[in-house]
Amino acid sequence: MISKSTIDLVFETSRLEEVIGDFVQLKKSGSNFKGLSPFSNEKTPSFMVSPAKQIWKDFSSGKGGNVVAFLMEHEHFTYPEAIKFLAKKYNIEVEETQQTDEQKEAASTRESLYALTDFAQSFFSKILTESEKGKAIGLTYFQERGFTPASIENFHLGYSPSEWSALTTAAIDAGYKEEYLISTGLTIAKEDKRFDRFKGRVIFPIHSMSGRVMGFGGRILKLDKQAAKYINSPESEIYQKSKVLYGLYQAKQHIAKQDNCYLVEGYTDVIQMHQAGIQNVVSSSGTALTPDQVRLIRRLTSNITLLFDGDAAGLRAAMRGVDIILEAGMHVAICTFPNGEDPDSFVRGNHPDQVKDYLQENAIDFIQFKAKLLAEEGKNEPIRKAETIREIIQSIAIIPDAIRREIYIQSCSSLMDVSEEVLFSTLAQLTQKNKSKASQPRQKPGLKVVDVPKQKVDPRYELERNIISLLLLYGQEEVAFEDVVMQPNDDGGIEFKPTEIRAKVYEKIYLDLQQDEVELSTVNFRELYNALLLVYNSQKKLVIETFIQDLTPEQAHQVSSIIMQDENNVLHDWERKDIYIKDKKSEIGKWLQQTILNLRCLLIQDKIGVLQSQTSENQEQTHAEILEEVNAYVGLKKSLSGRLDRVLF
Ligand code: CTP
Ligand code: MN
Repeated sequence: MISKSTIDLVFETSRLEEVIGDFVQLKKSGSNFKGLSPFSNEKTPSFMVSPAKQIWKDFSSGKGGNVVAFLMEHEHFTYPEAIKFLAKKYNIEVEETQQTDEQKEAASTRESLYALTDFAQSFFSKILTESEKGKAIGLTYFQERGFTPASIENFHLGYSPSEWSALTTAAIDAGYKEEYLISTGLTIAKEDKRFDRFKGRVIFPIHSMSGRVMGFGGRILKLDKQAAKYINSPESEIYQKSKVLYGLYQAKQHIAKQDNCYLVEGYTDVIQMHQAGIQNVVSSSGTALTPDQVRLIRRLTSNITLLFDGDAAGLRAAMRGVDIILEAGMHVAICTFPNGEDPDSFVRGNHPDQVKDYLQENAIDFIQFKAKLLAEEGKNEPIRKAETIREIIQSIAIIPDAIRREIYIQSCSSLMDVSEEVLFSTLAQLTQKNKSKASQPRQKPGLKVVDVPKQKVDPRYELERNIISLLLLYGQEEVAFEDVVMQPNDDGGIEFKPTEIRAKVYEKIYLDLQQDEVELSTVNFRELYNALLLVYNSQKKLVIETFIQDLTPEQAHQVSSIIMQDENNVLHDWERKDIYIKDKKSEIGKWLQQTILNLRCLLIQDKIGVLQSQTSENQEQTHAEILEEVNAYVGLKKSLSGRLDRVLF
């Protein structure tokens, strides 16, 4: 784990506007910055950054939070990855805590391996772009393939000189351990000789999702039957080819934004597609797609389009990938290229617009794709046809969602002119088989990605959010409230008299909620509530920038969303700003009181509900008692509603 002091230092040092400025073009707008949302394709900027509060809000997608939340959303980092990224940007040393010695050693080994691959990548890049031989051989090769300087830079392409140990020697001289050169596979050890694995090849570095170099692919320059066209880094502690997708680092934002991921076969396909302006593309680098790779994509989108050569080998490769994707509950489309063409050659031979059109027109759902294959292959071959139908149903059987399975069966039936009954019974047979095959609890919890319908407004949630908003925005404000006080009247009885009371917002909220024994219902709100009261009770001023540091990303998101929404209102109404704020301040007391009264009504409503369900279960005697209690609550609710200007919920 990263130490608290490192995290604090990272937050103190990071400037949100600088970090975001590296990804989004920001323009000053009042005391804030504005820019085009990086999460949608909007035309008018609704993305706001507050340097004073160190929070951001994207009004087009609803996302927001602090600096770490931005990196997690935009770069798809995990929390520790985001902290480490910032630490690197601001030259802060990352201190780790609570690790066993073994963990520490493993982590430091991994770090050493990464440091080495990083060194090697810079070495190869420098050779390519700065040395005479690199330029004459490596760079010329890339240019002949039509790679632009921008691509070479973006993909950190390089060249390994045609010498036995250029890299090995340079790395040793720079202080890297031979042991690590060998375990990353950069150096091959044979008896007492050491030589470079990638000697004389152009280099394609392979990045992790967060942009670290994990391994390399190296392509030979001259065709040579004796040598492999590509060689790749061997498996190591930092490189496992089944868990890696080439190009994912460069593609991830585009995949999320386009909500689709193109999957191609090779390094060069990825780069050429980028050059044609299609940037949501990755490659499994010549191997069959693995579940781990599918999982990487699923963090970004649930749609994959497979792009393959139209030849038999290409098709077989494509088909192998389909089932793994379906099993993950994702959607698969397939697009093949004309005879003998792969994405690389197709892009080179066509205008970018033509390429885009081609993909648009030819990417089809896998069922239609298989059915089309069938029509071509087995026109007069009933046996072949039966086989293909079984194959298709087999794929359909893998889909976790029953409704989607049914839709597929229907379209399959009409496409292939086979009755739905036959298809359903085949499906039933297969699912039966699958079930018995997996009689162990082979339920895959992560795989059911049934779309969760957008939640309706939950009144309790909204009211609790109001409470947090009031505390955040006006906690210290002293406001006038109308309250009801019991007073003896002239007849010796008691009457309720409305009275004006002045109190600070946080005090009023605290006392009221405590009186009613109300606990906020979500953990996030509860923790925010406690944290806010802690600040106010210690008579400190609430400084959002520091307050937000100790929050979880989810809580930070809540906070910035509330504050930026408020700022946005102010911003839009800037002409009426004075009026607006004055209005709002005079309204705070009312807003607060309405919120608390509504919350009470809601709680009473719940209570009544619980009691009523008890009456139907319980025996006669208690029946009457419960009814009485219900009536008391109903009465209370009525009197509360009477005090509400309008019943909100
Ligand atoms: N591959 C590999 N080892 C090989 C051949 C291929 O690792 N001996 C991987 C590479 O990742 C390659 C992908 O499989 O990018 C696809 O192979 P292929 O189509 O032969 O290569 P291309 O990418 O088309 O390369 P090029 O266009 O340079 O021939
Ligand atoms: Mn090729």
